[in-house]
Amino acid sequence: MKPRSFAGRMQSVAPSATTEVFKRVAELRAQGVSIVSLSVGEPDFEPPLHVREAAKRALDHGPFGYTTVAGLAPLREAICERSRLRRGVTHAPNEVVVSAGAKHALFNLAQVLYEPGDEVLIPTPSWVSYAEQVTLCGATPVLVPCREEQGFLLTPAALAAAITPRTKALILCSPSNPTGATYDAEQLRALADVLGLHPIWTIVDEIYAELYYDGECAPSLASVAPELRERLVIVDGVSKSYAMTGFRVGWLMAPPTLARACETVQSQATTSIATVAQLATIAALHGDQACVREMRETYRARRTRIVDGLAAIPGIRCGMPSGAFYAFADVCALLGRREGEQLIANDLDFARVLLERARVAVVPGSAFHGPGYLRLSYAASLADIDSALARIAAFVATLF
Ligand SMILES: Cc1ncc(COP(=O)(O)O)c(C=O)c1O
Repeated sequence: MKPRSFAGRMQSVAPSATTEVFKRVAELRAQGVSIVSLSVGEPDFEPPLHVREAAKRALDHGPFGYTTVAGLAPLREAICERSRLRRGVTHAPNEVVVSAGAKHALFNLAQVLYEPGDEVLIPTPSWVSYAEQVTLCGATPVLVPCREEQGFLLTPAALAAAITPRTKALILCSPSNPTGATYDAEQLRALADVLGLHPIWTIVDEIYAELYYDGECAPSLASVAPELRERLVIVDGVSKSYAMTGFRVGWLMAPPTLARACETVQSQATTSIATVAQLATIAALHGDQACVREMRETYRARRTRIVDGLAAIPGIRCGMPSGAFYAFADVCALLGRREGEQLIANDLDFARVLLERARVAVVPGSAFHGPGYLRLSYAASLADIDSALARIAAFVATLF
């Protein structure tokens, strides 16, 4: 007997576009095809040694059981301490909820905050999951396009124009995936002036804050606009800055009532996250931060290499991103051309044909609501970056 249908919400939610690229890369590699992949959004470094040693110690000595849902008290204290050092903002451990990655923290938040009738503002180009999480809750993602001429940044005027009586929240990602665009303190202050006029939540995703090339750490709305504190949520984690994606540790810092509500949602979904991962994260946050700086300097060198290389290819334009590890390249001038029989009408075609013909994997900008662009991750070795650039240049030269 055929069972009843899936929930209606499944008709409006899309699978992550980036995972579709990974799937195709895996298929081709399984056939023995050599692919240069600049598609993944994760560091190519191993986690720092002291983090791995802490994880091994935890496996030998425990504790082995569940922890409190919001995370071990020493971990939440370490999160508050590092945030104080980085942002100059003080939080108490009861304002922190540790989840299985920043994505999970955002998901808990979505469950707590969004419902049908709500609008959630998402400046675009934007990370793939924001809009889908809003949709899963039956609320409406309101995409606010941010043009390259404005540095891919939300302007106060565009923010003011997008806010309606239904607006529940704004999700601001700085530095941004996919553009690398980062708000400076003045730009954040100007947005705060608009936000201050409306009773909405602001969620700042600062997962890339330490991968910032114009200073040690990207400016935070939390430091710039302390008056927003009772409706501001910081989302962060160790995936990117400490190369700890597989540990699955992220968190949010929010006013206590919102933190408790997120804890309630998590208590019905996962309880706490893996104890060993929590202990490894304490080591990351308390340990020597030289590892973060070293990785940042390596990314910095790769950033120059990839941006200069892309900009040298006729028909491709690429600005210098100030954070994260992505180049966001404009390929509009090449759209409408052909590769053999194939018409390259848009960025989706471009990325697909580039993979099939030149064996370079990138993510089309459309996956991030940024059509006409490609996202290339430079969390890859210089050798891979050079090889990808050579293949892209040769591919572009064959287009007519
Ligand atoms: C902007 C942004 N936020 C959040 C995440 C999720 O990170 P985590 O591994 O902590 O779930 C990612 C991962 O790609 C990201 O790019």
